[in-house]
Amino acid sequence: MAKEQEYIRRITCEVSKKINRTPLHVTNYPVGLVPWVQQVMSLVDLWPNEEVNMVGICGIGGLGKSTIARAVYNSIADHFDGLCFLSNARETSNKHGLLYLQEILLCKLVMEKDLKLGDSDKGISIIEHRLHQKKILLVIDDVDKLEQLEALARRCDWFGFGRRIISTTRNKHLLACHGIKRIYDVMELNDEEALQLFSWNALKKENIDFSYLDISNNIILYSCGLPLALEVIGSDLCDKMIDEWKYAFDKYRRIPNKQVFEVLKLSFDTLEDREKEMFLDLACFFKGEKLDVIKTLLSF
Ligand SMILES: Nc1ncnc2c1ncn2[C@@H]1O[C@H](COP(=O)(O)OP(=O)(O)OP(=O)(O)O)[C@@H](O)[C@H]1O
Ligand SMILES: [Mg+2]
Repeated sequence: MAKEQEYIRRITCEVSKKINRTPLHVTNYPVGLVPWVQQVMSLVDLWPNEEVNMVGICGIGGLGKSTIARAVYNSIADHFDGLCFLSNARETSNKHGLLYLQEILLCKLVMEKDLKLGDSDKGISIIEHRLHQKKILLVIDDVDKLEQLEALARRCDWFGFGRRIISTTRNKHLLACHGIKRIYDVMELNDEEALQLFSWNALKKENIDFSYLDISNNIILYSCGLPLALEVIGSDLCDKMIDEWKYAFDKYRRIPNKQVFEVLKLSFDTLEDREKEMFLDLACFFKGEKLDVIKTLLSF
């Protein structure tokens, strides 16, 4: 009888966990996401395995790293005893410090409200002490400094067996520094996917009208398969006539859209002075050249 009651308790617990969990919003018009999510899931590899603990997702700003991370999180959340999706680690730690990140982590995983840690070393020992037996899924989104990974997940054994830690970042080097070997490089959308995402945002439907096709193809070329650019430009052109599209596109070519520009500029701002100079040299002397060509030229 006691055994049966235990089974019932466990089943009720599992079912209520699933029912009570609200999935994260992924994106308004998902395009091309399924195969990417599957590839990340194969890196995450849910099979209990000491070898796989951490997975990285990297790529430039606006490419869809956080979107993929949210979709993966929703798909695998039911396999864990504790869940934590830490959005915007870069912005949050810049604004409130590392300690605040640790407090959110503990708050979500041990359900203790208004936890005040005092200092980040104390945070580490509480995380270790309270979570080392818990099978957790932790997503640290938009990491830009090693110290963020160190404060939240310096060692995998801070968390229980079966844990998975997924980090998204623009800086692949950080992942390597933290010993993360399983890395997913996000690719740009191909032309067909880009057209679809643009159409959803600009016309609220899957396919572009024939009369808008030429100008749309120019916009796709200009956006280089970057979902953020397609979304921002598409929404900007929504409900406008074709002449306004042409006018707006001419303007974008002269003055880049501010929202997209700010996201991409962030990557430039984090470069060292010497790297900034190199970037500007490349941008001026090799403007419009193919990346492969430049790589070959510079390898001499
Ligand atoms: N596959 C996709 N389908 C539809 N929309 C997408 C897709 N990928 C990304 N987006 C949209 O593009 C925008 C940028 O995506 P996201 O925020 O995930 O980029 P990111 O790589 O995390 O950027 P950052 O480095 O600035 O954090 C979001 O508004 C998102 O909804
Ligand atoms: Mg992001």
